[in-house]
Amino acid sequence: MASYMKLNRRIWVWTLAVLAVSCAAALGLRAGTDSEKNSVGSAKASAGKIAAKNTNADRVALGKQIFHSTPDEAKPYVGNRLSCNSCHFKDGTVPHASPMIGVAKTFPQFSERAKRTITLKDRIQECFVRSENGRPLPENGREMMALVAYIDSLSTNYPAANEHSGRGLVKVPALKGNPLRGEKIYLSQCAVCHGFAGEGVGPMLPPVWGDESFNDGAGMNKVEKMAAFVVKNMPQTNPGSLTAQEAFDVSAYIHTKPRPKLNPQYAKY
Ligand code: HEC
Ligand code: HEC
Repeated sequence: MASYMKLNRRIWVWTLAVLAVSCAAALGLRAGTDSEKNSVGSAKASAGKIAAKNTNADRVALGKQIFHSTPDEAKPYVGNRLSCNSCHFKDGTVPHASPMIGVAKTFPQFSERAKRTITLKDRIQECFVRSENGRPLPENGREMMALVAYIDSLSTNYPAANEHSGRGLVKVPALKGNPLRGEKIYLSQCAVCHGFAGEGVGPMLPPVWGDESFNDGAGMNKVEKMAAFVVKNMPQTNPGSLTAQEAFDVSAYIHTKPRPKLNPQYAKY
């Protein structure tokens, strides 16, 4: 195992080196310019390349990166350890994990929450101030333009208002969750990844409650929404194995735990 990991690391370092050199060459830069500005890593080097060219394809690529690693790539606007990808799986492409496919062309649309017609940008802001427990992005800034370009790119083959069949979450019956039963499910089937204190593990396994989780204004902060998400998508190793009642129970348990509050200044989103 140890030697396998060592070998793996060596391959990784080698891959990074090759990527860094080829990025620098593609930009016609002296080797090292990217690394002076951006520390190390192929992701950072290619972000530099994206900023330098700024074509639509570059914006799409940057948007995907932000979607995947939001706390790293949009740091000033994120207040927790969740990425868009933590809830919109595989960069927004999994049916019934609220995919982004076909979504762009359904905006502008009326929002029950905001009680007005909102744009795709408004919808992205909602997830920033609520699900990311962060703050709104500059309307025409680099991050917003990149996210819109990425989400647009997933709608290319969808004519206006033609909804993707896996849009949103699955429909669940209106059940009542029992948090005591839910606690047993959480401890035996969820805590291994999301932590016994709901805190998650590192950047890969996201928190489900506490300071680093979504705030109380988020869509996921409703027992029914979380149950619909969980029944289809969790536990990650065996999705679809919980009954609707079990999904309500475990969601009801998670909802007994503390989480950040929505900043009232951002409630208009
Ligand atoms: C904590 C989970 C969570 C995180 C993190 C999150 N979202 Fe969401 N998002 C949701 C939920 C839940 C919905 C609503 C799904 C539903 O009710 O159909 C949603 C809906 C959306 C929609 C509208 C989808 C539709 O079908 O109309 C967009 C666009 C969106 N999110 C973008 C983002 C972006 C961009 C990020 C990252 C900056 C993000 N979300 C982060 C949970 C999350
Ligand atoms: C094998 C690890 C694993 C197990 C077990 C697991 N999850 Fe997850 N869960 C994840 C990962 C990973 C994500 C984020 C998806 C991604 O990054 O690809 C996630 C995302 C979530 C989210 C949305 C993001 C957030 O942090 O709020 C919720 C809610 C959730 N899981 C609840 C549960 C529940 C409830 C259970 C138990 C029934 C469970 N999970 C079991 C790995 C796991």
